[in-house]
Amino acid sequence: MANMNTTFVLLLNLLYLLLITESISLDAVPSNSIAVNANVRCIEIERVALQKFRKGLKDPFNRLSSWVGQDCCNWEGIGCSNQTSNVVKLDLGSSNLCGSEGGSQYTPDQPICLSGKLDPSLHNLKYLTYLNLSNINFQGVSFPYFLGSLKKLTYLDLSFTMFSGVVSSSLGNLTNLSYLNLIPSQFSDKTLSVSNLYWLTNLSSLQYLNLQNIDLSKAETHWLQVVNMLPSLSELYLSNCGLRHLPHTLPFVNFTSLSALDLSNNGFNSSSIPPWLFNLTTLNNLRINYCDLKGPIPNIARASLCNLKILDMAFNIFISGPITEFIQALSGCGNHRLEQLNLGSNQLSGVLPHSLGNFTHLRELHLTNNSFSGPIPSSIQHLSRLEILDLSYNLMNGTIPEFIGQLIELSTLDLFSNSWEGTMTETHFLNLKKLTWFSLSSTRKSLVLNVTHDWTPPFSLQNVQIKDCQLGPAFPAWLKTQKNLLDISLVNSSISANIPNWLWNLSSLLWHLDLSHNQLRGDLPKSLSFAWVDLSYNNLTGSLPLWPSVQYLLLRKNLLSGPLPVNIFQRIKIWSP
Ligand SMILES: *[C@@H]1O[C@H](CO)[C@@H](O)[C@H](O)[C@H]1NC(C)=O
Ligand SMILES: *[C@@H]1O[C@H](CO)[C@@H](O)[C@H](O)[C@H]1NC(C)=O
Ligand SMILES: *[C@@H]1O[C@H](CO)[C@@H](O)[C@H](O)[C@H]1NC(C)=O
Ligand SMILES: *[C@@H]1O[C@H](CO)[C@@H](O)[C@H](O)[C@H]1NC(C)=O
Ligand SMILES: *[C@@H]1O[C@H](CO)[C@@H](O)[C@H](O)[C@H]1NC(C)=O
Ligand SMILES: *[C@@H]1O[C@H](CO)[C@@H](O)[C@H](O)[C@H]1NC(C)=O
Ligand SMILES: *[C@@H]1O[C@H](CO)[C@@H](O)[C@H](O)[C@H]1NC(C)=O
Ligand SMILES: *[C@@H]1O[C@H](CO)[C@@H](O)[C@H](O)[C@H]1NC(C)=O
Ligand SMILES: *[C@@H]1O[C@H](CO)[C@@H](O)[C@H](O)[C@H]1NC(C)=O
Ligand SMILES: *[C@@H]1O[C@H](CO)[C@@H](O)[C@H](O)[C@H]1NC(C)=O
Ligand SMILES: *[C@@H]1O[C@H](CO)[C@@H](O)[C@H](O)[C@H]1NC(C)=O
Ligand SMILES: *[C@@H]1O[C@H](CO)[C@@H](O)[C@H](O)[C@H]1NC(C)=O
Repeated sequence: MANMNTTFVLLLNLLYLLLITESISLDAVPSNSIAVNANVRCIEIERVALQKFRKGLKDPFNRLSSWVGQDCCNWEGIGCSNQTSNVVKLDLGSSNLCGSEGGSQYTPDQPICLSGKLDPSLHNLKYLTYLNLSNINFQGVSFPYFLGSLKKLTYLDLSFTMFSGVVSSSLGNLTNLSYLNLIPSQFSDKTLSVSNLYWLTNLSSLQYLNLQNIDLSKAETHWLQVVNMLPSLSELYLSNCGLRHLPHTLPFVNFTSLSALDLSNNGFNSSSIPPWLFNLTTLNNLRINYCDLKGPIPNIARASLCNLKILDMAFNIFISGPITEFIQALSGCGNHRLEQLNLGSNQLSGVLPHSLGNFTHLRELHLTNNSFSGPIPSSIQHLSRLEILDLSYNLMNGTIPEFIGQLIELSTLDLFSNSWEGTMTETHFLNLKKLTWFSLSSTRKSLVLNVTHDWTPPFSLQNVQIKDCQLGPAFPAWLKTQKNLLDISLVNSSISANIPNWLWNLSSLLWHLDLSHNQLRGDLPKSLSFAWVDLSYNNLTGSLPLWPSVQYLLLRKNLLSGPLPVNIFQRIKIWSP
């Protein structure tokens, strides 16, 4: 019995194998060609289409040198179906636009540079599922209608190409598209626009949609309604699309898988921030910077936006009010994934909430140019991954806490223009090995930066900007260790000493030096390699220098003497003795 059973199963398996083999051999018959060389898989009509397409292109670096012979399936960038031999993939995307003559007009990535026209014979590639022409320079011809006939496309990448006119509504025929990227090249001098976006409703499989920098103003009244009907949409990029209308309410939020939403650089006419924007629980990236949004941040439910990693609301100018409830609600999630929070350049006010310290994954915290007040909350010490802390241009007060020196990942610490008081010492910088940007000033003019004369900082700065603080009276000797400085600005910092000679040769990268409003003494050096120098309001003596590299020179209110160097007006753009 056992043997019989086994034999029966074997027979069944054999039958199954025969059936599979049968179906493979049936499928393997090329659909459009009859007698072909056994080694040539390519279908003739498709090869001819590709050859015509190639004729339309300039290919100065022979990127398509493999496009010879009969078997187009072996040509570079072509993928054929293993079953039918049809061309299913055309991938000629590259990472850089090609100049119009195939030359170096822009910044061509030379070995892959292609330009020319897009021959409509491509419409014969009826089985194409993947088309990538990213960065090919199509020289501003009108957007091709025939693309709408490639009905099997699932990927269409025309990013950074140059087309003009109106995006063809024929794309509405591509009902299987899951990826559509039409962002034009930044070098394109012609605009690309749409007459409407209703055709998008057809693309129900769309997951990725990028229409950045395309003029969508004609879709003003319906763009949101239309994208809200795309059930699989996961990434939506509509930055700089000339949109003005962002509806305040969205009766039914259909975006159930949206993870990235970029609406930046659209001057919306809304009188307040639409609350539904913060109801998209699946978002991990929300960019609504430069959107002309106004008014307070709406109340959101606790633990909303729990997947958020990036929130950019900067430069709306008129977003106002406190952030305490918003941050508390955001931080109510068990997992605090937020990595970048940018609320800069608005009119936000009130104290910084302690709950900010819950975002232990935070790498960037930009709060510059608002009206925040009160002290730096102690919970900030928990943000051990923080790389950028920018509190500049606010109304904050109190002392700078010493725990700042424990934020070991900090590369930018911007504390400019607040009402700080107290003293900063070496402890405030103890472990800041990665710091490259340090900026500090106090409108109260009472902050002291007091370090020992032989302090060797753990960091190597590129930019140091200190103003209206007490840094002197001695010249800060620790600067001598900073060999990578590009920019030094120590203004009104109570330094009354000779400028040390090492300063003039500190760093070959140094181009900007501002030591104005101190009481610096001594003579100026004979030569200097910086481009921009402000030494005004000091006690410098000796004769006027002639520094050929200097383009901007401010020396007023010093004790200089002697004749003017010849030609000084030809050599220096701004000059103020
Ligand atoms: C076709 O077959 C080749 C070789 O066996 C294989 O590498 C390739 O992945 C297959 N392509 C598809 C689309 O299945
Ligand atoms: C198209 O090609 C470019 C350059 O190789 C690549 O960066 C991009 O991801 C490709 N697009 C798609 C959808 O695969
Ligand atoms: C899109 O589909 C419609 C209806 O099937 C058809 O009339 C039209 O020609 C198609 N457009 C293109 C570009 O193939
Ligand atoms: C779209 O994809 C589905 C599933 O893969 C397929 O059955 C259908 O034929 C495709 N539609 C077109 C127009 O190719
Ligand atoms: C939607 O797709 C269907 C089927 O391909 C087509 O007939 C129709 O014209 C398309 N509608 C739009 C608005 O593109
Ligand atoms: C939500 O999406 C579904 C499926 O795409 C669509 O039928 C429905 O009209 C959409 N609802 C709204 C309010 O847009
Ligand atoms: C904003 O602009 C849209 C379209 O132009 C208009 O319909 C809407 O009424 C405007 N809203 C406000 C608040 O002005
Ligand atoms: C946000 O979502 C909740 C739950 O789905 C819903 O009750 C509420 O009305 C939504 N709020 C807005 C402004 O869409
Ligand atoms: C968030 O921070 C607040 C204040 O620091 C604290 O009371 C609260 O427990 C924290 N929430 C979570 C979920 O960690
Ligand atoms: C900071 O400013 C607030 C008013 O904005 C004031 O109540 C508080 O006393 C000030 N704190 C310090 C330390 O100056
Ligand atoms: C700087 O610190 C030293 C040592 O702690 C102290 O003696 C000195 O008074 C401080 N200077 C200022 C201006 O606070
Ligand atoms: C700088 O000059 C002013 C007068 O021009 C003088 O009162 C002051 O004492 C000088 N300071 C130093 C440090 O030499």
